[in-house]
Amino acid sequence: MNTHKYNMQRLFMLKKSIDMTQTVTNIDTVFDMACNNGYWLNTAKRFLPNTKFTGMDTQNFISEGWEEFKDNNIDFKQGNSLTFLEGHKNSYDMVLSMGVMYYYNDLHKFIKTITDATKSTVLIDTFCYNKDTNEEKKVKNPKNKMTQAAREETDFVTIPTEKKIMDYLDKFGFESFKVDEFTEPYNKSVGDRLKLNIKRSAILGIKRRDFIGQLKYDRT
Ligand SMILES: C[S@@+](CC[C@H](N)C(=O)[O-])C[C@H]1O[C@@H](n2cnc3c(N)ncnc32)[C@H](O)[C@@H]1O
Repeated sequence: MNTHKYNMQRLFMLKKSIDMTQTVTNIDTVFDMACNNGYWLNTAKRFLPNTKFTGMDTQNFISEGWEEFKDNNIDFKQGNSLTFLEGHKNSYDMVLSMGVMYYYNDLHKFIKTITDATKSTVLIDTFCYNKDTNEEKKVKNPKNKMTQAAREETDFVTIPTEKKIMDYLDKFGFESFKVDEFTEPYNKSVGDRLKLNIKRSAILGIKRRDFIGQLKYDRT
């Protein structure tokens, strides 16, 4: 799959997650916890013209996107999102965690922090260990500037299975739905480099309270 196709697929995945969230709540606020240069928030704005977006990244992208993309509804901040969200519980309708969880070792803390911060949904788009078990893989944290924040935390990262992510979501009171799965191009190159059988999965967690609130009768 070429990069354009991959990006289109991620765009559809984001749109689908937004649509699913809108079936349970209005999306007044969105927090993108690893917004990079702001590209995905600028894209999401087209689907949600009245929503207030906050994007955060440990790196500074002022001259590479933030100045261009920011407007009355999009605010960008430099900082560590995990630390920031710990102080912002129940604050956003939707929290986006795209392409960042795989830098972190403590998945319990990571998923607890983002599920506490959302009022309704979390989108977790991450590399997963491609095995249908609860087994995790520990790998040495790749050293590059993208991993700055994680590097301070640990020299190793954990690649979870989808099941592990879903188990945590369940524990924190969320139903989980697999929105998409990507197998190329980066998964393959990263997987080959790390000698790991990995894929990239997008999982939407919906707070159970909101989900059940929409159902008049439970038919199970
Ligand atoms: C692979 S990029 C993903 C960018 C974008 N979300 C996407 O999915 O295309 C990872 C980004 O996470 C940022 N990052 C890593 N740890 C972070 C943290 N604790 N808080 C905010 N940003 C972080 C990096 O600086 C980098 O821009």
